[in-house]
Amino acid sequence: MLKRISALILAGATALTMAGCSGGGDGDSSASNGSSGGGDDKIVMGFSQVGAESGWRTANTKSVQESAKEAGIDLKFSDAQQKQENQIKAIRSYIQQKVDVIAFSPVVESGWDTVLKEAQNAKIPVILTDRAVDSKDTSLYKTFLGSDFVEEGKKAGQWLVDQYKDSKDTVNIVELQGTTGSAPANDRKAGFGEIISADPKFKVIASQSGDFTRAKGKEVMEAFLKSNPKIDVLYAHNDDMGLGAIEAIEGAGKVPGKDIKIITVDAVHDGMQALADGKINYIVECSPLLGPQLMDLAKKVVKGEQVPPRVVTEETTFTQEQAKEALPNRKY
Ligand code: AHR
Repeated sequence: MLKRISALILAGATALTMAGCSGGGDGDSSASNGSSGGGDDKIVMGFSQVGAESGWRTANTKSVQESAKEAGIDLKFSDAQQKQENQIKAIRSYIQQKVDVIAFSPVVESGWDTVLKEAQNAKIPVILTDRAVDSKDTSLYKTFLGSDFVEEGKKAGQWLVDQYKDSKDTVNIVELQGTTGSAPANDRKAGFGEIISADPKFKVIASQSGDFTRAKGKEVMEAFLKSNPKIDVLYAHNDDMGLGAIEAIEGAGKVPGKDIKIITVDAVHDGMQALADGKINYIVECSPLLGPQLMDLAKKVVKGEQVPPRVVTEETTFTQEQAKEALPNRKY
């Protein structure tokens, strides 16, 4: 709306349009972040979040909401409860409300072209945050801010290769995948697979989705344990599934981190605690603190400034010793 308002200010019709700027008209799924939201020249951002499936997601939502407030951006936030149809509904509602910019973290990679085209036709710029879409037409969004998930998978695989470099024995691996069809599930699987496939002693004996949640991670790990008597390694695509799996492993009378080595991705507080406690062996970081960069990009995009098409988040990895050091200052 900012662009529209500027044009109308020039045309001398300020008062009329201000009232229509960031006021009411939210769809059912939208809620303002508590900033004034009332008819001034604030940028209005419609943000569609994946859900609240993990500690990572909670930290990401907090980062987006706090950063919007700090940046003076009026945030309309909606939680899609891990459903693509809810995200499409939210985006359409933001288009109807004529927000200045739409940002979203796509629950899955495919199936976005139609709604993104609708946003483009309405001249509302879109920013992808955290997860990518597989649209061939990259003009449908201005930029993609988030991690390199393939690289995260590679880091996990490399740690494993290094751990077992002196062994000739078969290493039986089970994999807890993230949400089926999501970019982090696809890419973390691919990156990990690429690295371990160089040595045939690494065998992925079972691989299934745990939907990025603790409960599902536990349930699927219980099934893995029942049908596979010898599991050496668990690779979980996020901390939460790893934490659920730890409960299953302990329930089966085994010692997580010793009888079964565990690698996870994220490095949220509970994961880092389990790493420091020796129950997880290695964590590849995926930072949820995307809010400040997202707000900077949004401001630029709304002003019509050029932004890089891809902004990759800086991340590290943690061993058990590094987790002990990092934990006291960990923000999430
Ligand atoms: O897209 C990022 C992933 O989504 C995080 O690794 C996971 O915890 C979350 O649910």
